[in-house]
This record gives sequence, C-alpha cells and structure tokens, in this order.
Amino acid sequence: MSALVTYQLRGSIAVVTIDNPPVNAISQKVRAELDAAVTRLSEDTNAVAAVITGAGKVFIGGADISEFGKPPQAPFLTEVLTRLEDCPKPIVAAINGAALGGGLEVALATHGRVAVSSVSLGLPEVTLGVLPGAGGTQRLPRLIGTDAALDIITTGKPVKGDTALALGLMDEVSEQPDLLDAALRLAEKIAQAGAPQATGLRALPAQPANGFDSIRSKVKASAPGQVSALKAIDAVEAATKLGRTEGLAEERRLFLELMETPQRAALIHAFFSERKAAHQPDVAGLMPEPFTEIGVVGGGTMGAGIATAALSAGLTVTLIERDQAAADKAFETISGNLAGAVKRGKLSEEARQSILAEKLTTSTSYDALSTSDILIEAVFESMDVKKQVFAQLDAVAKPGATLATNTSYLDINEIAASTTRPQGVIGLHFFSPAHVMRLLEVVVAEKTSPAHTARAFALAKRLGKIGVRAGVCDGFIGNRILSHYKTATDHMVMDGASPYDIDAAVTALGFAMGPFQVSDLAGIDIGHAARQRRKPFRHALERSADYADRLFENGWLGRKTGRGFYIYDTNSQKGRINPDVLPLIEAERKAAGIKPRHFSMEEIQRRYMAAMINEAARVLTDGIAQRPSDIDVVFLSGYGFPRWRGGPMHFADSQGLAKVLDDIRSFASDDAHFWSVAPLLEELVANGQTFNDLNKASTKDTNS
Ligand code: 3HC
Ligand code: NAI
Repeated sequence: MSALVTYQLRGSIAVVTIDNPPVNAISQKVRAELDAAVTRLSEDTNAVAAVITGAGKVFIGGADISEFGKPPQAPFLTEVLTRLEDCPKPIVAAINGAALGGGLEVALATHGRVAVSSVSLGLPEVTLGVLPGAGGTQRLPRLIGTDAALDIITTGKPVKGDTALALGLMDEVSEQPDLLDAALRLAEKIAQAGAPQATGLRALPAQPANGFDSIRSKVKASAPGQVSALKAIDAVEAATKLGRTEGLAEERRLFLELMETPQRAALIHAFFSERKAAHQPDVAGLMPEPFTEIGVVGGGTMGAGIATAALSAGLTVTLIERDQAAADKAFETISGNLAGAVKRGKLSEEARQSILAEKLTTSTSYDALSTSDILIEAVFESMDVKKQVFAQLDAVAKPGATLATNTSYLDINEIAASTTRPQGVIGLHFFSPAHVMRLLEVVVAEKTSPAHTARAFALAKRLGKIGVRAGVCDGFIGNRILSHYKTATDHMVMDGASPYDIDAAVTALGFAMGPFQVSDLAGIDIGHAARQRRKPFRHALERSADYADRLFENGWLGRKTGRGFYIYDTNSQKGRINPDVLPLIEAERKAAGIKPRHFSMEEIQRRYMAAMINEAARVLTDGIAQRPSDIDVVFLSGYGFPRWRGGPMHFADSQGLAKVLDDIRSFASDDAHFWSVAPLLEELVANGQTFNDLNKASTKDTNS
C-alpha cells in the first residue's frame, strides 16, 4: 500500500492512518487506498477491528476540492463508505483534528467515534455550493435526529467535540495523547459485543419538529439566491422517506446536480482565492518577527474594534487616547464588545474579566507604547493629525516595531516619509466593525520592508482575518473601486433612477445591502467629507452629482440621526423610504437641466457591475491589487458581495468579458469620460482571455 493510507496492526486492531498533507483531503488515490484498507481488514485474520485516524493536525479536511468540476473518478466516496459501514469488523474513528465534509462523513460511516474536545466537526459543503455527497445527509439525521442534522447541514457551521458529544455525534471525548488508546479500547469493546451496527441501516429518522417547509423558509431568508442549502434539505427529506440505498442514490443525484452549477464554481473560486491571498512571493520563506504586544492609538469606532480583535486573539493591548475621559470610554467600548462575545458563547465571562484585568491597558501617554511590537494608529482621517501621531510613535517605539496606519484613503508613503523608519511603516486597513469583519487590507508602501509585510500577514492570520495585499492609492483596492461604482449610481440618480430602485436592483443581485443603505449605515457625513476632499482634484469633464450633500445639509446623516435616504423608527432595523429625498433630487435635476428617464432593473445592474469591473481592471494595471482573485476576496469579505457569485472578477468572467466591454462602450455614448474603457479589459477581450487566466499566471491554478 502506498503512503497516503497506512495500515498497521496494534495487537489485534488495525490502525488505518490517512496521511495526505496538508489536510488529509480525500483524493481519488485516498479513496482507492481507504477502500483497499477496508478489504484488507475484512480479510485480515489477525485483526478483529480497526481505528481510522489522520496524520498531523487534521483528521480529514473533506473531499479533495481541487477535483471538483473535473470528471468524477471511481471509486466514489459514497460507495467506499457503504463498504466501510458494512464491514463485519468494527471500525472506530479517532478524530485527532478537524473532520469536515467528507472527513465527517467517513466518521459517520464508522461504528464508533472518539474526538478531542477542541476539534471542529462539520459539513461545510453548502458553503462550497454542493451538499454532503457521501452519506452525510442520510447518516447524520439517523444518528442525531433530523432537526440537529439540518442545522449542521444547512448552515455548514462546525461544532466542537463537547457539543458533538452532547448531540450524540461522538461517543467519547478524549484528549491527546490518550485519543488513540481510547479509540482502540472502544473498537475492542464493540468487537466483543458482536457484529457492528450500521448507522445507515437504522430506522428512518423523524420529520423535523416544524416541518421541512419552515426550514426552507428560514434558509431562503438567511442565504437569498443560494441553491445548495435548499437541495441539501431535499436530500435530508429523502432520508426520512427512503432506505439507505435509495436515499444515498438520491443524495448522489442532488450532489452531482449541484456540481454542475455556476454557484458551485463561484464558491470554490472563493475558497481557493481566500487561501491564495496569503501567498506573497516576496515574503515567502521569511519568518516574521514574533509579536505579543499591540499598541493602538485612538480608541474610537475603529481603534476599540481593533483592540477587541487583538485581545480576542490572546494578544496584549495598550491603547492610547487624547484624554482620560476618551480612554475610559474606549475601555468601556472594548468591555462591551467582549461582553457581546460572551453572549454569543465565544468567550466565558471569566475569560472576559481576566482579559480586561490583565491584557488591556489604556493610557494617555505615548510612553506606554515603548514595549509594543506592532503599533496601529486609528485617529482622525487627517494627514496633519496622522503625521503628528507618527512623529510621536517614531520617538517612543522600540527598534524593529511595526508602525501601522488604519487610514481609509490617505497617502501612506507620505506618512512613512514623516518618520525616520519608513521601512517599518505599513497600512493595516481594517473594516468596521473591526472585531467582526474578516477583511484586512495590508497596504504595502514604497519603502515597507518584506520583514514588516510578512509580520502584517502573520498578524492578519493571528486575528483570524483574511489579509489581502494592496498598494498605495486613494482608497487602496476596495474603497477606490467602491468610489467609482458609487459615482455610477450617482449619475443614474441624476439621470432619473431613484435610490430605492438602485438599492432594489443591487440587492436583487444578492448583495447584502444596496449603496444607499450602505451610505445610511456608514454615515452620509463620510461621503460628504470624501466629496469635499476630492473637489479640488475634479477633472474638468467629470459630472457633478452632489444631491447627497443636500441630505447632509439637512442633518440627515443616515442611521446615526435616524434619517437619511431611509427613515429609521425606533427599533426598526430596515428603515423605510424617506419621502423628502425624491423631491430634493428632483430639484437637483432641474437645476442641472436634466430631463429624467426610466432605468430598468437590468440596466441599473449592468451599469453598477460594469463600473465596478472597469475600475477593478485599472486597479490591477496600476499594481494596487496583485491578482484578480484578491479583488474578489476584498469584495466578498468586506463589501457584502454575494459569495455565490464569486466576486466581481469571477462575475465578469462568468458574464463574458466581451459582453462587459460592450456594455461599457455603449454607456460611454452618454459620458465618454466616466466610461473610458480600462485598457486591460480591452486587451483581455482581444486575446480571448479571462481574469482567471491572470490568476493562473500569477500563482497556481485556482481549480475553479
Ligand atoms: N481539498 C483540497 N485542498 C484543500 C482542502 C480540501 N478539502 N482543504 C484545504 N485545502 C488546501 C488549501 O487550499 C490550502 O492550500 P495552499 O496551502 O496551497 O493555499 C491548504 O490545504 C491549507 O488549507 P488552510 O490554509 O485552509 O489550512 P488550515 O490549517 O487553516 O485549515 C481546514 C484546515 C480547517 C481543514 C481548512 O483547510 C478547511 O476548512 N478546508 C475545507 C473543508 C471543507 O470545506 N471540506 C468539505 C469539502 S467538500 C466534501 O467533502 C464533499 C463530500 O461531501 C463528498
Ligand atoms: P473616530 O472618530 O471614531 O475615532 C478616532 C479616535 O481617535 C477618537 O476617539 C479620538 O479621540 C482619537 N484621537 C484623535 N487624535 C488622537 C491622538 N493624537 N492620540 C490619541 N487619540 C487620538 O474615528 P474612526 O471611525 O475610528 O476612524 C479612525 C481611522 O480609521 C480613520 O483614519 C478612518 O479613516 C479609518 N477607518 C474608519 C472606518 C470606519 O468605518 N469608521 C473604516 C476603516 C478605516
């Protein structure tokens, strides 16, 4: 037997180890070798039972996703697992680390399961656009009941060992290094009790308490437009009606159907793109300097969130504010953020108290930052203020410390030049709320050294965030592109579309929010400030569309004042249309001599996406993003782009770049300046290439 699955006797029990680094994914070769191991066990007269475990830190990270979208190759996992389940000798899973997707399905087909308490056990297939296709939808409801199974299958969220034990998903929890011995004992016990029981042959599980349709409605509301979870419910419903053979066949049919969908391709693209974002050719192999102490300057919206993220990751934080009252307020905000984590079950109250007592210091003196390894500035968005802060950081920070700014738009090269150590200055652009949002743009300035870049990516990982490398420009990757497509919406409003039509068209694409809902959330004052800042640099041919400034002048700043494009009544989450907005826009059109016209939902969507894609192509040409897939990651993790559409670059490829180019050219007939075509887009179309071809050229295949 080759090295991917090994078979070794420990007394009368065979230990079968999956050894396929880095995550023991179940490739065709692993399936074939696992199948052979089961056959060998059946025939091995020296063995009475077996234990399956994983080499390294993971049990099994699921099916090998890089095989998705390619012709399926026998043996199929579902068949291998039926043979495993029917093996006359008991097989026990010793779950040493994450058991996800096909990994958990292997465990479900065994006759007993022992896990360490910290492991993640889950069926994340729906997040990849498929469903558990190796018996998960049939065996899990039989093992833990239909309601609990549906929760795990439709959310894709993993559970920990202790929860799994309570659910009946695990038989025992045992900590390392005793795990294998505990599994061996369980295998022996089951062998002594006679022929093992097959979970798949248990009685049909019951219907869910409130029926399948209530679960379908819940799923439709939580993931609008996404099909995989709905198909997964169909497969679980089959489990409540069909025996093992027919149920597995139905599951397989639904699985293969999903495999052919564009959503599956988009979601797999998203999976690999997120991992590829961490690949940094110039820092590869560099061991980042370790860090334990984080300094945060400014404890407002962002600073308090950044401090919370660092504390939650086990780091020590010193936060500096302008005066004691502001420092106390920041402490309270952080304390409240951590209380939220306690409420969500992510932290114990005891741990919160000890973090606040031992890991967090607030101060008004910069001297307190002298031992910090990484210092993150989050003060007001003003170059003068930032330069003053960096001069003080330069004076107190220890040699080798990383000095980071959370600026949204300002020139980090200029900030770096105001210090004596520009090689240590970098942008760390967090998104609000910083302790929740997964995106972190790592903005590498002209003189930032690879050592500090590597350290910034290590920090992103430690905080559980996805670090995406960006270059210096106005708005970096995300905000630069956002400002462009926001301008396209402003032009549409001036020409006749209502903000509400635009929000409806954008949410119909699957976005979490439309651009005007986002403006209300971020604050209309923020957009106003950005327009004021850019005014002096406006191109002579640039159209003005300043109607939102009228809202600002009325003091309608969005959610924070209860009124913006929408009105927010007490406790109203959604907001209702502000009837005073349209007359105000109408007056602006009149003053500009514009005769409004109708925009269909489709035209709004095409203009919105074309503006986004066109600017994204320029961001690539300018070297602000390293590869198209990084732009996708920015939009998926920071801007509410529907994950099942894969991000703007993947979306562009799936529409066909020639079609996007045609759109831009046709829109240029009414505004040639705004709709000038990005040369990269023209080049790709001329060469018959896609953005994904650029991804492949930049590193290895994304397999999407
Ligand atoms: N198949 C192929 N490659 C995989 C993989 C998989 N299932 N899971 C991870 N990888 C690759 C990653 O792309 C990455 O490659 P890179 O180093 O070249 O970038 C490498 O393994 C390491 O991955 P991570 O950086 O994610 O490693 P972590 O240690 O942070 O996390 C993990 C480990 C928790 C197992 C995580 O990798 C993970 O969540 N993997 C995916 C789990 C999953 O979704 N499984 C379901 C698959 S679908 C299925 O099983 C269908 C079945 O029902 C038939
Ligand atoms: P904020 O106004 O909520 O907080 C700024 C804090 O900095 C205030 O508490 C203020 O007292 C403090 N401060 C000002 N000067 C200081 C100094 N010299 N020393 C110590 N503390 C000082 O602002 P917010 O929203 O947190 O923004 C901070 C930075 O983060 C800005 O550069 C902003 O552009 C950026 N940012 C903001 C995002 C957001 O959504 N709010 C998102 C991403 C970045």
